Amino acid sequence: MTKKETFQKEFEDHVKEGLTSHPKFLSSKYIYDEKGDKLFQQIMALPEYYLTDCEYNIIDTYKEDLRETFSNENDFDLIELGAGDGKKTKVLLKELVDNNVDFTYKPIDISQNSIDYLIKDLLDLFPNLDAQGEQGTYFKVLQELAQYDKRPKVILVLGSNIGNLNHPEAIDFLGKLKDIMSPRDLLFMGFDQKKDPLTIQTAYADPQGVTQEFNRNLLHRINKEMQADFPVEDFEHWEAYDPETGTAKSYLLATKDCTVQINALDLKVDFKKWETIHTEISQKYDDDIVEWLAQKAGLEIIKFYEDDREFYKDYLFKVK
Ligand code: AVI
Repeated sequence: MTKKETFQKEFEDHVKEGLTSHPKFLSSKYIYDEKGDKLFQQIMALPEYYLTDCEYNIIDTYKEDLRETFSNENDFDLIELGAGDGKKTKVLLKELVDNNVDFTYKPIDISQNSIDYLIKDLLDLFPNLDAQGEQGTYFKVLQELAQYDKRPKVILVLGSNIGNLNHPEAIDFLGKLKDIMSPRDLLFMGFDQKKDPLTIQTAYADPQGVTQEFNRNLLHRINKEMQADFPVEDFEHWEAYDPETGTAKSYLLATKDCTVQINALDLKVDFKKWETIHTEISQKYDDDIVEWLAQKAGLEIIKFYEDDREFYKDYLFKVK
C-alpha cells in the first residue's frame, strides 16, 4: 500500500468506527486537507482566535532570551513539529540568522505541500538558512528523530497543538518526545491557558462562521472521498467550554432527521434531529496541569514565557 492509500484506509476505518458509535464522533485530525489547511489559516487570522497573536507576542518579546537559551553557544538542530506556515517561527529564525547562530531548521508536517511551500518561502526570506523539511506523521518522524543525536536539538511544538489530545494521549505524546531527547536537548511547547470562559468560547465559535466551515470540512471530505451524501448545511457547529475541566469541545449538530449513505463504506447512518458528532477537544491548562503532565512523561519544566495579556504560555522542558 502507498502512503496515501494507508492514510485513506485509516480515515475510512475511523469514519466507520466514529459514526457507528454512541454517541458519534470523528477526529479533528481529518479536517486538514488543502481546504481544511486554508480554513485553519483563516481561523488563525480571526480577531477572536487569540492564540496565534499571543504566541507571536511571546516569541517576539523573548527572542533574544530564546536565542541564548536554545543555542547555548553551541550549534544545534531546531526541529518543529506541525510547522504550518511558520509565521511565528519566522521571528525566531530571523533572530538566529541575524546573529549568525549555527543551526539547522527541520520543519516536520503531515502535508508535503505545506513543507515545500514553507521551505521555499523561508529560503526567499533567508537565503543562507540551512532548512531541511520532512513529511510524515508525528509518530513516524519521532522515531526517525531519535537518530538526530550528533548535536543538541531543540524541539518546537507551537500553537497549543497538544490541546487537541486528551490528558492520557498528551502524556503519551510528551513521553515519546522524552524518549528521543538526550539530557542536553530542549522542548519548547505552547499551552493555551485557562481564562475568562467567554473569551475561550468565542475563540471557537466566531460569529463569521469560519470555525463552523472548518468543522464541516470533515463532512465535505467524507462526501468527496467516500462518495457520501451528508447534507452539510444541516449540520451546525456547536462549541461548549467547561471551565471546570478546561476542555473546549466542538460538535457538529444535526438540525434535522436525516439518513446518510456512505458508499465507499457500504454504510447507512441515521441522525436524529439534535444528535451530535463530537469532533474536537481544545484543552486549556494551568501550571499545575502542565507540571502534572510533564512529571507523568518524565520531563521537567525549566521555565515558561507568557504573553502580555497572560492568556498563553510556552514552557521549556528538559528530560528529568
Ligand atoms: C490546531 N489546534 C490547536 C486548533 C485549536 O485551537 O484547537 C484547531 C482549531 N479548532 C478550532 N479552531 C482552531
